[in-house]
Amino acid sequence: MQATAWWQRGIIYEVYPRSFQDTNNDGIGDLKGILTRLDYLVELGVDVLWIAPIYPSPMEDFGYDISDYCGLDGIFGTLADFDQLLNAVHERGLKLILDFVPNHTSNQHPWFLESRSSRENSKRDWYLWCDATEDGGPPNNWLSNFGGSGWEWDATTRQYYYHSFLKQQPDVNWRNPSLREAMFDVLRFWLDRGVDGFRVDVMWLLFKDEQFRNNPINPASHEGSPASQRLLPIFNADRPEIHGLVASMRSVLDSYGERLLLGEIYLPINRLVLYYGKDLTGATLPFNFHLIQCAWRADAIAHLIREYEAALPPGAWPNWVLGNHDQPRISSRVGSEQARVAAMLLLTLRGTPTIYYGEEIGMRNVQIPPQEIQDPAEKNEPGLGLGRDPERTPMPWDCSLSAGFTEARPWLPLGEDYTTRNVVNLSRQKDSILRLYQALIRLRRSNEALISGRLEGVVANGNILRYERTDHGQHFAILLNLSHEQEEINLERGRILVSTYLDREDDLFERSVSLRSSEGLIVNLT
Ligand code: GLC
Ligand code: CA
Repeated sequence: MQATAWWQRGIIYEVYPRSFQDTNNDGIGDLKGILTRLDYLVELGVDVLWIAPIYPSPMEDFGYDISDYCGLDGIFGTLADFDQLLNAVHERGLKLILDFVPNHTSNQHPWFLESRSSRENSKRDWYLWCDATEDGGPPNNWLSNFGGSGWEWDATTRQYYYHSFLKQQPDVNWRNPSLREAMFDVLRFWLDRGVDGFRVDVMWLLFKDEQFRNNPINPASHEGSPASQRLLPIFNADRPEIHGLVASMRSVLDSYGERLLLGEIYLPINRLVLYYGKDLTGATLPFNFHLIQCAWRADAIAHLIREYEAALPPGAWPNWVLGNHDQPRISSRVGSEQARVAAMLLLTLRGTPTIYYGEEIGMRNVQIPPQEIQDPAEKNEPGLGLGRDPERTPMPWDCSLSAGFTEARPWLPLGEDYTTRNVVNLSRQKDSILRLYQALIRLRRSNEALISGRLEGVVANGNILRYERTDHGQHFAILLNLSHEQEEINLERGRILVSTYLDREDDLFERSVSLRSSEGLIVNLT
């Protein structure tokens, strides 16, 4: 299948705007900051920038609680700054996609202020309001993903409203036609300004059971499980109505030409792939997060790749992700050596890769002292490891005080290793992970087999994960040593294109090739 669309050929890069680059020294990243770092992204070789929410927000959930969908929070800049950034992105041949958060607004959004003002208000039905049960309790057992009941009592109008996340993030009612139109207008507002698409927040949660039925107990949960896992989310997630809605969002985007609809979806593969929609009219790319959850073993990963490829509907384009602003960093999860193997995996699999900022320099989770914790997920359920601050810390650019990120005190602490693990330092080191990312991206961009090529022969040979990419006479094998042992693998003959150690380029081998501890190789078999 020839990949022709920009979202098939390109590499996505997620910027968490609070932590990328500060320019006005308030310790928080901003749009001007992203602008000053665009050339870094060009040099890295990525194509599509996804920026996490930048809209006006009380910041209870750091921008995922939006109080105005068509503006910019002063922390990040102005609409003029946005236009300037978008222009600069396009001038460099890059694309820009925004985060669209349609499941909930902030409780400070004018829509909600109206909705909660009285039961008769015209926007009452824009949110999910329900009567109490006879004993005054919440309408059902649905939980918030941040712990506790998902229902909040409103004393003024004497009903409960539902919130999948914080009580400051009331869920909207997608069954209401005016809400639906208002939301689509938001998409049009940004599309008219020239954005290239959206990453849709919690796409699989947008619809809830119309009858508000109770969720069953999750038999797999136990005492210590996070509250949100104690029930099976049968009635408040992945409802059948969602696919019609996603298709409508997609047609809004399609009326602007080739635009990207990326869906944030945490579901098993068989449910996930349904989000491509009937005849591929749903999400352009339903995010595939399965590498984040997969055991880091050759057999498990081989199985995952085969299962995912087999489940894809005809013509659907795959995608892969190692991390994002909600997940522990890959380098902490699998270790610094295996993070290089992970990079080779991500950039040689078939499908669009997404890089989370800092992955390319091997950023690790940063331990946050208790008094500096910011994330409500940690504050609400402390100690369960649910906090996301560790993967949201400032990008270390150089070894100066505050790492070139800011001249003030950064909103989250820098990693202790920032004086060595920073962009300036790693770009000078010939064998650094940053150089590896650049080499892998360069190779990918210049070899069609790595973009459009078939993916074949995905197997685990002991600790080696192996697969091939082929296209019009090009024939590459990818060999990834998932262990810390030296391994040997039989292979006719070939030439090494890249080693994760960045030191065996152009070496020839015959009959067999050896891999050092945590070594990955891309070899040319033609
Ligand atoms: C998504 C976001 C996450 C946010 C949540 C609520 O999962 O990625 O950061 O907290 O939605 O909007
Ligand atoms: Ca700032």
